[in-house]
Amino acid sequence: MKKSLTAYVNGTFLPLDDASIHIEDRGFQFADGVYEVIACFGGNFLDLKLHLQRLESSCQAIRIPLPCSLQELESLVQQAYEKNPFINAMAYIQVTRGIAPRSHHVSESMTPSLIITVRDLPMPSDEKLAEGASAITLKDFRWGRCDIKSIALLASVMGKQEAAANDVDETFWLDCEGHLLEGCSTNLFALINGVLTTHSLGHHILGGIMRKMVIRVAGKAAIRVEERPWKLSETGLTECMMSSTTNAVLPVCRIDGEPVGEGKPGPVAKQLRALIINELEALRSS
Ligand code: PDD
Repeated sequence: MKKSLTAYVNGTFLPLDDASIHIEDRGFQFADGVYEVIACFGGNFLDLKLHLQRLESSCQAIRIPLPCSLQELESLVQQAYEKNPFINAMAYIQVTRGIAPRSHHVSESMTPSLIITVRDLPMPSDEKLAEGASAITLKDFRWGRCDIKSIALLASVMGKQEAAANDVDETFWLDCEGHLLEGCSTNLFALINGVLTTHSLGHHILGGIMRKMVIRVAGKAAIRVEERPWKLSETGLTECMMSSTTNAVLPVCRIDGEPVGEGKPGPVAKQLRALIINELEALRSS
């Protein structure tokens, strides 16, 4: 018999099928909450502290108190993993403002809700790695605080629907001047005249943990990095790649139906992916 996943909900571990939240939770009524997705290899979490710090910043930004200390949260995530010990795992943490009769007004005395689930982390197929990912672009219609990892993901869902309707993997958001910001669930890089270029941090994009890792690994490999707004039409653009906890770094070889560079995974994307996969494998066997 297939073993059910175990979830954590407000103080209790229980079978996923029995895990539920009150209908008046503000996460359900208002998307009034934030989340994190964290990868874990062989029982070792990748950058767990950075993810928890980002969760704390997201909570602070919307004035939800953390439901427990970061140390307690770390221990709960670890316990959730031990109950769902996948070799390659993905932990999901969600914090919402809590349960109250529906009103836009926020009462300061609410008890936040905390849920944690752990699942198998899907890996990109060999075929996808060989041919690279594809994407379309859309003018950004999300809100103005994309640096907060909000559970209000309707625009991202619509972006992914549009991607699926166009038979591609991702939608990249464009600002009103045509600069590429990020994807629905990924950050984005371009190699322009040999410089790894990615949009600067700010309210328009999420400060991805994998983005940070890509920048660190590129630095170690003596690849120059620039954080600035950029466009697909720039001369000297030879490669694109997207990054996320769930994909590590993936070359993007077609955008809006046009090949990027030579239309196949380029040497820098392949090098960065190999360096990152080495680090993930080291984590798995440590
Ligand atoms: N998404 N940008 C957006 C809008 C994202 O939703 C994500 C992550 C990223 C990459 O961030 P990180 O490297 O920290 O995973 C960038 C997660 C994986 C999700 O929503 O499932």
